[in-house]
Amino acid sequence: MDKFQDWDNPLYSNIETFKANRNGVEISRHGEGALSMKIAVIGANGQLGSDLVAAFYENGNVACALTHSDIEISDLHSVSHALEDLRPHVVVNTAAMHHIENCEREPEKAFAVNALGPRNLAIVARDLVRF
Ligand SMILES: NC(=O)c1ccc[n+]([C@@H]2O[C@H](COP(=O)([O-])OP(=O)(O)OC[C@H]3O[C@@H](n4cnc5c(N)ncnc54)[C@H](OP(=O)(O)O)[C@@H]3O)[C@@H](O)[C@H]2O)c1
Repeated sequence: MDKFQDWDNPLYSNIETFKANRNGVEISRHGEGALSMKIAVIGANGQLGSDLVAAFYENGNVACALTHSDIEISDLHSVSHALEDLRPHVVVNTAAMHHIENCEREPEKAFAVNALGPRNLAIVARDLVRF
């Protein structure tokens, strides 16, 4: 069996090794017969993101852990650059500016991260859909 399988098929069943894009954390998983999806987790070293990466991995999926140094969600170019090579089946965003005091001190930044960021992810994710 080929070492590298067809990542465009969300139902393919045997993962040998997956290398995330040049910035992503590499996570490998071996298994026969397990259904698997390639899931990009943004904010992967945050409290929620790190738990999700572990949970997805434990459930047999390929978790591509993207940290703030890999992607800036308020920047459409950065989002596009990070996700287009990766071409995940699912994108989970946990990146946020959530401390109220910081949001009040820097409302423009809060808007960019909490509103424009998800918008940028939606735009790029829409363009990745290929079923
Ligand atoms: N933790 C919980 O129990 C919980 C429960 C329910 C809902 N939530 C929600 O889930 C979200 C995440 O919470 P959390 O507790 O996991 O927060 P967190 O620990 O602060 O994690 C947020 C992550 O997002 C990254 N990030 C921030 N701004 C970014 C940007 N512009 N581009 C890319 N990455 C960015 C941060 O990286 P840097 O630190 O390097 O900037 C950090 O790794 C929040 O909306 C929160 O309200 C959390």
